[in-house]
Amino acid sequence: MSDKTILRALAGETLPVPPIWMMRQAGRYLPEYRATREKAGDFLSLCYNPELATEVTLQPIRRYGFDAAILFADILLLPQALGADLWFVKGEGPRLSTITSRADFDKLGPAEDVHETLSPIYQTVRNLSGALPGDVTLIGFAGAPWTVATYMVAGRGTPDQGPAHRLKDEDRATFDALMARIEEGTIEYLSRQIEAGAEVVKLFDSWAGSLKGADFDRYAIDPARRIIAALKARYPGIPVIAFPREAGERYVGFARATGADCVGLDNSVAPDWAAREVQVDGCVQGNLASSHMVTGGEALVTETRAIVEAFRGGPHIFNLGHGITPDADPDNVQRMIDAVRGG
Ligand code: CP3
Repeated sequence: MSDKTILRALAGETLPVPPIWMMRQAGRYLPEYRATREKAGDFLSLCYNPELATEVTLQPIRRYGFDAAILFADILLLPQALGADLWFVKGEGPRLSTITSRADFDKLGPAEDVHETLSPIYQTVRNLSGALPGDVTLIGFAGAPWTVATYMVAGRGTPDQGPAHRLKDEDRATFDALMARIEEGTIEYLSRQIEAGAEVVKLFDSWAGSLKGADFDRYAIDPARRIIAALKARYPGIPVIAFPREAGERYVGFARATGADCVGLDNSVAPDWAAREVQVDGCVQGNLASSHMVTGGEALVTETRAIVEAFRGGPHIFNLGHGITPDADPDNVQRMIDAVRGG
């Protein structure tokens, strides 16, 4: 049995104190992150600089002693490796060349060719594998195909993922070809992360909530199931966390349907409900609203304890319901950790 608490929870063990890490734990709320990003020049240069990406991954481990470190990278590096143009507009977010026709899709490269662009990311994983304390688990990640497709089609983040829904509904053959290419690239990308030392991988499906009915099965569940099956065939026992954000009632049965070892819960679902309906199938991760990291106070402590209490009867990894935001107070993160570990 591993002495890493994250791996124990993922194997289905109920622990007296849930292990904890935080989405976007290496990020702009930390002054040391901002200083290192400054040194790198910009966000993408930081992602592709193994030495500095290793440094920012380690920063929250040093400061807080989280039980897991998540590779510092981004879900949009894969589209770039497939041939899309990618840049970040300061204060706004990502921009990509758009894919709205078969001709746009045909310009993408094959999935096997992503490794040259992504090789610095694998080097970061190797660095981390050697640098992390012995009880800290290293998590690799990728975007789930639907979420990555929403950015590749629209060329940016969108409130309702309208452009991706339109391509899906109006030219399903092209949309399905794009989904398949992302799926193949994701298997390639995650395989190399695992070979470089990632002990767990997580699939971020941030926009799963906008898929309804049969679309949810076809574009959230099916790709996750195939990616997880391919990874587990190559790397037996590799634990996978799936995060179909805002899936609502579709969280029920998601782990069973996809083969995921753990389901990440956003903060729109009630912990008591999720304990009954989702945790029955295995480990869950979540789900404190990240706004508490900004507002703090008594509510932060009360809500943290309520989540720990609700999930006490089964395997649970404590986390936020979504990434911590740049306006968060680093002291509130410590208060959350103390509330989880100190009871
Ligand atoms: O969680 C971690 O600490 C690991 C690193 C990580 C980043 N992005 C770093 C990042 C991870 C796991 C991601 C995932 C990611 N990236 C998702 C899925 C999770 C989610 O948040 O829904 C998505 C949709 C992206 C795409 C992306 N990257 C967007 C939309 C943005 C802009 C929004 C923002 O927060 O600024 C980014 C930029 C980004 N990715 C930053 C970080 C630390 C901020 C960039 C900066 O430092 O200026």
